Amino acid sequence: MLRVVVLISGAGTNLRALLEAADEPDYPARVVAVGADVEADGLAFAEERGIPGFVVPLGAFPDRDAWGAELLAQVRAWSPDLTVLSGFMRLVPPVVVDALAPALLNTHPAYLPEFPGAHGVRDALAAGVTQTGASVIVVDSGVDTGPVLVQERVPVLPGDTESTLHERIKPVERRLLIDVVRRIADGSLQLPEPRPAAAPER
Ligand code: GAR
Repeated sequence: MLRVVVLISGAGTNLRALLEAADEPDYPARVVAVGADVEADGLAFAEERGIPGFVVPLGAFPDRDAWGAELLAQVRAWSPDLTVLSGFMRLVPPVVVDALAPALLNTHPAYLPEFPGAHGVRDALAAGVTQTGASVIVVDSGVDTGPVLVQERVPVLPGDTESTLHERIKPVERRLLIDVVRRIADGSLQLPEPRPAAAPER
């Protein structure tokens, strides 16, 4: 059984979908804890289902590295095989990426490498594209630049707002996430080897 820690910042609707999938007896993964950087709504939902949660607020630490070290310690306390950033709206510091990748995934509401960053839906709308998408990637040290594991196109419809478009993307994201976690757990999807570190400058 694959042990998964999920990190969120908000409603956690992707998390909810993963928890519901994991209720199926033949689903090969379990969410063992949910972490957040704020008192996210999704934490309460997880708690109702008996899943432990933890909060590591950036503002409680002198700098991002100290925050990252505590976030990593909290994640590691649950011995996860896989950690999923699902609507976790902060960049995770290198100490976290280096320790957890490639078993560190991120869901993103755009067809990466198109529209990376915190406003993937808004940026797609502003660009006037007729299709965008959803992606699940391995986290690397960049902003949504890691290897794409799975992605799917979603149409942008006339009259779409950021909200209507995001609500069309999210069910696709949920399906992709549930599928990727299942395939990692059953061994049919291999996580890519980390890219070798750049050679030191002479
Ligand atoms: C999801 O669409 C997720 O991909 C996105 O935030 C939403 C969280 O929704 N993440 C990013 O944009 C990260 N750059 P949720 O809290 O309802 O699952």
